[in-house]
Amino acid sequence: MIVEMPVDKTMGMDSRLDDVWSRVVDHKVRIIGLYGTGGVGKTTLLKKLNNRFLKKTSHNFDVVIWVEVSKEVNSENIQETIRHKLDISDEIWKNKNEDERAAQITQEKICIIIRRSMGSARSIKTGSFLFGGSK
Ligand SMILES: Nc1ncnc2c1ncn2[C@@H]1O[C@H](COP(=O)(O)OP(=O)(O)OP(=O)(O)O)[C@@H](O)[C@H]1O
Ligand SMILES: [Mg+2]
Repeated sequence: MIVEMPVDKTMGMDSRLDDVWSRVVDHKVRIIGLYGTGGVGKTTLLKKLNNRFLKKTSHNFDVVIWVEVSKEVNSENIQETIRHKLDISDEIWKNKNEDERAAQITQEKICIIIRRSMGSARSIKTGSFLFGGSK
């Protein structure tokens, strides 16, 4: 369940994309932070990364989830978006607290791509990958 994202043609981004990809498929890496000046191409890179999951078979991810986060970080909303994409039932969800929900999400082999400002990215308990973009 991976949805292709439309992306403009880019120049000189492929080696950076290869670099990020090699970390995504590295099992030891749990979180990747992407930051840089506005307009440098972070969002574009994330879209291309999302699409690479469709082209490459050399990864173990069944689901790639794109979550957009506003400046007001709301962990509950983020977890809820992820839960819906993973089809986790209300029954399983309703008796869990934030940490337990993070643990539940971590059981799945997923990659979560998050667009947001880097500031408090580490405080979001998704239990899996986190990609940030500074604004
Ligand atoms: N390597 C590239 N080749 C061609 N166009 C590019 C490249 N990198 C970025 N662009 C273009 O520059 C514009 C800004 O890129 P993008 O939105 O990815 O930047 P950003 O780093 O996410 O910026 P912000 O921090 O404001 O969110 C887009 O129109 C994108 O298509
Ligand atoms: Mg951006």
